[in-house]
Amino acid sequence: MSITILAIESSCDETSASICRDGKILSNIIASQSVHEQYGGVVPELASRAHMENIVPVVDAALSSANCQLSSVSAIAFTQAPGLIGSLLVGAQFAKSLALSLDIPLIGVHHMQAHVIANLVADDKPEFPFLCLTVSGGHTQIVLCENPVKMSVLGETIDDAAGEAFDKTAKLLGLPYPGGPLIDKYAQLGNPDRFHFPEPQIPGLDFSFSGLKTSILYFLRNAGKSLVYKDEFLATEEDQKKFIEENINDICASVQQRIVSILLNKLKKASVQTGIKTICLAGGVSANSGLRNRFLEMGATYKWKTFIPAFEYCTDNAAMIALTAYYKFLESDFESLSAVPSARAAWT
Ligand code: KG4
Ligand code: ZN
Repeated sequence: MSITILAIESSCDETSASICRDGKILSNIIASQSVHEQYGGVVPELASRAHMENIVPVVDAALSSANCQLSSVSAIAFTQAPGLIGSLLVGAQFAKSLALSLDIPLIGVHHMQAHVIANLVADDKPEFPFLCLTVSGGHTQIVLCENPVKMSVLGETIDDAAGEAFDKTAKLLGLPYPGGPLIDKYAQLGNPDRFHFPEPQIPGLDFSFSGLKTSILYFLRNAGKSLVYKDEFLATEEDQKKFIEENINDICASVQQRIVSILLNKLKKASVQTGIKTICLAGGVSANSGLRNRFLEMGATYKWKTFIPAFEYCTDNAAMIALTAYYKFLESDFESLSAVPSARAAWT
């Protein structure tokens, strides 16, 4: 008998639903919320309200695009953690109600595990064990994946996530949210060696991006004259604006190069420490062209087998939740109907 999963993802500002049958993704519908753009970041209350509006049409579209009837669904999956609690509650409550009314199992999925599993959607899959650098707006982790349901975090950020480093830099440059894709766009036209930003010295496989953010702040306030903290800034507001305008491509290229080198130097270290050369990327920041190119170049240099999910499976999507739930279904790893989501759950 075939196993059909209907999955819902609602951890942040994307409402998504997907149908997966026997490990194959049949549909993946994503409704993005543009309401946050004007606020320079995701507004939790607005995100929850938009999920409430979107969830029924998105689930309907996922079913019809997969040509699937509700009566043939074997289990309902939902993102249980981590994320914005109001957003998670909408998806969780919807999933629980559906599982109860259809009298089928409920499966809770950890969002960060699902980002890693996005690498198993394509036909050309990594073999186990593999390492995955998961880089998103909320997380930066190096994960050791031994099988679809056994993963451990080898290192993670001690402050900002890589996506936050991109988005906060964009904000300092006066660009709208989310700034990551815009920095990527400008960086492609700029000289990455023009400005030098420091690489933090963090032991082990952990990351830090808050120092970089501070150095960019002072660099811009001093209109490129200094990275060092000064009580009195060297440039007027007018000068700062002019400096950004005239140098935006080179600033973006230089910042992006530093973020990418922080990420990939740790990934290289993790590969040496574990001896694992099958290496994947995951999460929204893996859409970054600088990261993708440098990752593939390093893969060729160090003889890694490299994998990057297709773009629609890099950013938040329900297909990765559905596929993770499929593997949990095979293990009969179900949730009770009293399951509650959690904003900050550790790995299970
Ligand atoms: O995985 P994701 O969609 O959501 C979270 O779980 O956070 O990641 C969103 C993050 C945002 O910070 C966004 O700016 C970043 O991914 N991002 C990028 C690019 N595309 C998305 N950052 C740099 N370059 C990109 N091309
Ligand atoms: Zn995510």
